[in-house]
Amino acid sequence: MKTHNIVLLPGDGVGPEVTDAARLILAAVSDLWGHDLRTSVKLIGGVALDETGEPLPQATLDACLKADAVFLGAVGGPKWDGHERRPEEGLLGLRQAMGLYANLRPVEVTPQGAVRSPLKADVVKGVDLLIVRELTGGAYFGEKTREADRATDLCAYSTHEIERVARVAFRAARERRGHVTSIDKANVLETSRLWRETVTRLAHTDFPDVELEHVLVDAAAMRLIQKPRAFDVVLTENMFGDILSDEASILSGSIGMLGSASLGDGGPGLFEPIHGSAPDIAGRDIANPIGAILSVSMLLHYGLGLIDEAEAVRSAVTAVLASGRSTADLGGWESCSAFAWAVAQALRNTRTAALHGRLMHWG
Ligand code: IPM
Ligand code: MG
Repeated sequence: MKTHNIVLLPGDGVGPEVTDAARLILAAVSDLWGHDLRTSVKLIGGVALDETGEPLPQATLDACLKADAVFLGAVGGPKWDGHERRPEEGLLGLRQAMGLYANLRPVEVTPQGAVRSPLKADVVKGVDLLIVRELTGGAYFGEKTREADRATDLCAYSTHEIERVARVAFRAARERRGHVTSIDKANVLETSRLWRETVTRLAHTDFPDVELEHVLVDAAAMRLIQKPRAFDVVLTENMFGDILSDEASILSGSIGMLGSASLGDGGPGLFEPIHGSAPDIAGRDIANPIGAILSVSMLLHYGLGLIDEAEAVRSAVTAVLASGRSTADLGGWESCSAFAWAVAQALRNTRTAALHGRLMHWG
């Protein structure tokens, strides 16, 4: 039996709670499919700062680089405001050190899910889009300066950085509805003009079968809530992707619903819910674990190549939601842990039914 080593980074705020949910689902998958999924826990973010003085301790980075996949809960919180080192540095450093330049954030709205969105059900029904966010460039990683009364964050992109993430988007589009919307601010920013030229050239040379359109980021923010079904794959730079993915999460009802996969060229991927540390609700067992559980599904799929298992986890989430159970952010009553247990149970039911069906077939 192949052993898969998974590093868990619970981090701060609700991170540990949703990581417990992730761990429960990983244990259920190990158990039901007979895989050897081994988890180990490491420090990152604010808790790492408190314990070691570093937001990304060397021991954590070493373990992540050696792992088959990494799961992260969340980092950050007001407790570390004003500190010289910030918890977020740990996550950014990890993304950079692991070479994770492509961040995949899928947003799907099922017919039952449509009624949970604060937007009209008619608008969000049937939304199925994938945000491909560049993750290791732009203003996040450019040179920073700070004086008493002036500060700068350099936004820089090279054609190489643009091309490699655009390839991820075009390939994803081929597996989906064949459409890429590239989002930039080419009417103002030089980096956006380079972005647009590079993406256009790559589309012509390598992906003529994929339909490409360019939309300015302000118009895209509007279209995302006006006509969200118009999007298939959304390709964008780091900061626009950060902002638009929070906006897009509301289509599916709550930011607690979205998982993500951060991938590079080979090497382990990093899988994390997009919701962040939510310090206002931390420690109360009321966070929505769906983003974490869907991140586990992506970890199984992209990280370990366990496609059937990944699909079964997604279906189990859908089944529990369809049964009417949900967490507080969706207007429901389930705690984080109770919802995760329900998903684990649904997984058990479908797996047992599938095995039973196969035995019947053989019989
Ligand atoms: C995200 C988060 C992070 C980001 C923060 C925590 C640094 O908002 O993953 O979307 O800005 O990338
Ligand atoms: Mg964000």
